[in-house]
Amino acid sequence: MENPAQRIERIKSEMGDRLSILGHHYQTDDVIHFTDIQGDSLELARKITNLDAEHIVFCGVFFMAESAAILCRDDQKIHIPDVTASCPMADMAEAGRVRKTLEILQKDGRKIVPLTYVNSSAAVKAVVGEYDGSVCTSANARTMLDWALNQGDAVLFLPDMHLGCNTANLLGIPEDKRLVLPKDVIDGDPALHVDPAAADDKRLILWPGYCPIHEEFTLDSTRAIRETEPEAKIVVHPECSPSVVEASDGNGSTTFLIKYAEEADDGTTIYIGTEENLVNRLAARYEGRKVIRPLLSSQCEDMGKITVEKLADTLENLNYSNPVTVSNAIREPARRALERMLAVCS
Ligand code: 13P
Ligand code: SF4
Repeated sequence: MENPAQRIERIKSEMGDRLSILGHHYQTDDVIHFTDIQGDSLELARKITNLDAEHIVFCGVFFMAESAAILCRDDQKIHIPDVTASCPMADMAEAGRVRKTLEILQKDGRKIVPLTYVNSSAAVKAVVGEYDGSVCTSANARTMLDWALNQGDAVLFLPDMHLGCNTANLLGIPEDKRLVLPKDVIDGDPALHVDPAAADDKRLILWPGYCPIHEEFTLDSTRAIRETEPEAKIVVHPECSPSVVEASDGNGSTTFLIKYAEEADDGTTIYIGTEENLVNRLAARYEGRKVIRPLLSSQCEDMGKITVEKLADTLENLNYSNPVTVSNAIREPARRALERMLAVCS
């Protein structure tokens, strides 16, 4: 009887170039071991458009597989080992509410350009595409927010208020030109919670979503390290709150964090504020040369839903299970939104 690892190796060698397995940096080492391509959200989205494989298996959360299904060719099939692996932050922006919010904000004739973080559903990306907006990732948020600000009178940035604020700080958008929408807009009726008068002199309107995993990093954790280990470096993902980002020595996408660890001198101690699977991988990679520790223990349960067993089952059922699909009505405008990003950041 073969174990899951042997089943995966056998199917990979039987299928050769017809199969490609992609994995986000937050996957466990066990899963990453079987992936052909690893990357952050931007790198993985870019790779999709150049892949020839007939079957693409995406080890990550659902919005990533959906983005792949939007960008792939019609004859390619996208699979995810667990369709319930969602992103709680992406779930904080529902397409109908985003559309209604845009309608309310545009009532007085102002052109509001929506810019959605890639951590959002295909349906949200479709609304954004219809309203001439685009998508960003943590790696290109600055470029894309700058682009969006030049397309209209104001930008609706969603769903991550922290990434939006951190990027606004980089671009020097004054605080009094920003508005964070009330939290009630996440679950409630925008007609009751969005006040167009409060937004009419703003350049940046922020959806009040956040990543529960990165929200756990607080100023207390950075202060404790500064006091006890003043030589240590602290780097964080920009989904952390602006106060944590300001207190750090650097912030950026998962690829930025990996490069920071790689380029640091031997002997450096680095605390990293992001999902723990990635931090532990870096700690093991540089063991004995650099000390790499999590700023706090923080795991993304949904990323963790992808296991070697589920990957083996997915590979065995490629021709029988339902691939990830997006209806044409959503796919077309969502693709426009994603392609605008890929064109601006080519
Ligand atoms: P990156 O695009 O930086 O890999 O981040 C994706 C993500 O989900 C972070 O929580
Ligand atoms: Fe979503 Fe946060 Fe998990 Fe990233 S770490 S997938 S933003 S919940």
